[in-house]
Amino acid sequence: MAPALTESPVVSPSTGNKKDISIHDFFGRARTRIIGQQVVPEATKSLPTFYRNLEEALDIRRASQSLYYIMQNHWQTSSAVNFCSNDILSLSASGALRKEFLAELAKHPDFMTGSGGSRLMDGNYPYIEQTEREIAAFHGAEECLLVGSGYEGNVAIFTAIPRPGDVIVYDALVHASTHEGIAQSLAAERIEFQHNDVQSFRDILISILESNIQVKQGRRSILVAVESVYSMDGDVCPLQELVDVSKELFGEHHENVQFVVDEAHSTGILGPQGAGLVSHLGLQKEIAVRMHTFGKAMGCSGAVIMGNKTVKTVLVNFPRSFIFTTSPAFPFVASIRAGYNLLSTGRGDAAQERVQDLATLFFDTITSHENWAKANKAGLLFVPQSKNWDDREFLTHIVTIHTRDQYMWWLYLHLLLSGYCVFPVEHPVVPVGQSRLKATFHAGNSEDDIKGLIDSIYNWIDEIVEIEDGKTDKKVTKAAGQFYSMMRQEGLSGFGMI
Ligand SMILES: Cc1ncc(COP(=O)(O)O)c(C=O)c1O
Repeated sequence: MAPALTESPVVSPSTGNKKDISIHDFFGRARTRIIGQQVVPEATKSLPTFYRNLEEALDIRRASQSLYYIMQNHWQTSSAVNFCSNDILSLSASGALRKEFLAELAKHPDFMTGSGGSRLMDGNYPYIEQTEREIAAFHGAEECLLVGSGYEGNVAIFTAIPRPGDVIVYDALVHASTHEGIAQSLAAERIEFQHNDVQSFRDILISILESNIQVKQGRRSILVAVESVYSMDGDVCPLQELVDVSKELFGEHHENVQFVVDEAHSTGILGPQGAGLVSHLGLQKEIAVRMHTFGKAMGCSGAVIMGNKTVKTVLVNFPRSFIFTTSPAFPFVASIRAGYNLLSTGRGDAAQERVQDLATLFFDTITSHENWAKANKAGLLFVPQSKNWDDREFLTHIVTIHTRDQYMWWLYLHLLLSGYCVFPVEHPVVPVGQSRLKATFHAGNSEDDIKGLIDSIYNWIDEIVEIEDGKTDKKVTKAAGQFYSMMRQEGLSGFGMI
């Protein structure tokens, strides 16, 4: 049974003036994107070579309907429930962070809006150093370095830390920024292990021990890149087991296997006061490098890289992305500090628990529905994280909902028009054939939001089953049918249209 939920610790942003989403609103917005995906033969012929070459590169994306668009999202402008944004503790949406941020500014009324230079030249200042000290102490780290974003942080870590001859071993699902850093790194040997698969990790370490004499003799290191929570799957890294395997296999040389843990999706969410997975497991002294980012549960932006003095000195000296950029300015640092003020005084704790309760409610309700087993068996509904969900020590805020690939857009349209904004994830973000809808729970979501989402999923399954069983003349579900008829009127195609 799902435990009774306590009163929401944060107030949902008011949807007072927002309208329900209509098929016309949605089509109006999606239309630009759909039209943009069409390759128009001969359209670029008359362009100067420079622009024609660019358009031809874009046409390759268009041909597979994977051209990205910057669009206004629906949950900010309609009453649709927000299961999308990364403001997981709702610190930003609830106004709690704004209030703390303004208090932080008020403490420093003479603040400068710019930092005045790069950190190594004129851009260092006492407030940023003090903030770094406080953040390091909060996470039980010796030192830390603030950087502009998590992307920049991962590139800095992997371009600076692995030395020539070192080997990088990484989980198959690490973030694009880690791949970017690895691609630019000095380590020539880079080996992927299967996602969250301890046996695959073990096999890779054994093969390195057998083939790399320098590593075997303890003269070169292995750097292991993992994330505490994976953003496209919502699963948690078996970090303790990976650390144990490396100790078992490397014995006296085990300190030559070091871990880099990207805590982007666990910051604020897991561990004491949201200090992250490494802190939760008590591995602060064993993990060489951790990165926390602030664009998600912390409700602002930026990132911090943590390690000992040697790691910090390397990060200050080698990554070009740190050396040749303007240092974070006061308002940026103050927003991060405001977030830590909330976490370190326990004001994020209730929100952290609330997210756990909502995830519990979701798994309990969706798996105990009378049609759960039938829908699973028919391949219409698959929620990977539901496997053994009640045995887990903690749940995450990210849940992926899978249906058959050809139905993904149908389910998306149905949920959106029922008032639930989830995020469609397709190739190239995930492998071909593994498209999914990603729902992110927030402390500001209500129990009814979760139950309504689940009801809506099962209503859609009823509709699909009727169609598949030939109990109706319809070939597509209602929401998809309305949407496709508008597309047809304009001669458009794609997005699961049949
Ligand atoms: C696991 C992971 N690492 C790093 C990043 C990049 O962080 P930022 O958005 O601060 O650049 C992201 C962002 O999506 C992420 O999911």
